[in-house]
Amino acid sequence: MSTFKVVVSDQVFPSVEIERELLSGIDAELMVATGDVANVLRDAADADAILNTYLPWTAESIAQLQRCKIIARYGIGFDNVDLEAASDAGIVVTNVPDYSVEEVATHALALIMSALRKLIPADRSVRAGAWNVDQFRPIRRLSTLTVGLVGYGRIGRRIAEPLAALGARIVAHDPYLEPSPELPELLGFEALLGEADIVSLHLPLNDETRGIVGESALAAMREGAILVNTSRGPLVDLDALGGALRDGRLSAAALDVFDVEPVDPGRIEGVPNLIATPHMAYYSEEALEESQRKAATQVIKVLTGQEPDYRVN
Ligand SMILES: NC(=O)c1ccc[n+]([C@@H]2O[C@H](COP(=O)([O-])OP(=O)(O)OC[C@H]3O[C@@H](n4cnc5c(N)ncnc54)[C@H](O)[C@@H]3O)[C@@H](O)[C@H]2O)c1
Repeated sequence: MSTFKVVVSDQVFPSVEIERELLSGIDAELMVATGDVANVLRDAADADAILNTYLPWTAESIAQLQRCKIIARYGIGFDNVDLEAASDAGIVVTNVPDYSVEEVATHALALIMSALRKLIPADRSVRAGAWNVDQFRPIRRLSTLTVGLVGYGRIGRRIAEPLAALGARIVAHDPYLEPSPELPELLGFEALLGEADIVSLHLPLNDETRGIVGESALAAMREGAILVNTSRGPLVDLDALGGALRDGRLSAAALDVFDVEPVDPGRIEGVPNLIATPHMAYYSEEALEESQRKAATQVIKVLTGQEPDYRVN
């Protein structure tokens, strides 16, 4: 019988050997659960710790945890865990805030470039035997454009660097920052929407930000602007965005995240100039390994009475 039981509630990794090996160092046994919350709770109710990816931990399911000390998220966002309920139950919640900053910034940059340079329709047209640029007019020069970053934290900063190096003007909206010489120009949300040719979302999902890009924000964006979301799906009203793309108010959009995942393909079928990727911005082999190592380390720290590195409650 091991000293501790750690349950992986859901995960996206080819194997959990990294966690298993690290946890064996404190005599913790690792179990990988599958299925919905009810299934997972069968294994997790008496766990000392939970490693979590997307499975929601609501107040009701947290109440079923009899001896859990920590819910350690493998990822950055923690909108799927009821922090108040966890705190009330004496459960530490941690995330891994830095494992995929480079990957998400790279993915957002790739989406911006694909949308701006119309790579996907260009590829399709060549395969269909066409060979001209007329159908792709207009394409604008990046160094004449303004990129508006909504949320200027780790990822927002990381993507600002290459965009600025390529000559784009950067503006940002982040209500938690004070203007300073190291920061790009900070604007109100509406003002940013009115100035940016490309809007990229890098803010967390919470009660304040849910649906922040709905009808009225879309109407405030510049004619022909591009919207990119690699943050969280419910920030954007997908149906309103579909309308703005269909009637040509926006020239393109690129989404890595959707309000409901996986997205029902019927909801984006026929929506023009929309690039969709399957919530993969975080992914690289190196990032996954870092997230597994760091999440397991949070579990080890809490179970051995140390302060974790990345407490969020
Ligand atoms: N698609 C993916 O695979 C993937 C991977 C990792 C992270 N993410 C998402 O990316 C988001 C950003 O990550 P990060 O590491 O940059 O987080 P971060 O915490 O470093 O930065 C978020 C920034 O948003 C700002 N902010 C908060 N409320 C805001 C508001 N109402 N308007 C504008 N700005 C606001 C904060 O002040 C902060 O500076 C995360 O919340 C996560 O949901 C997605």
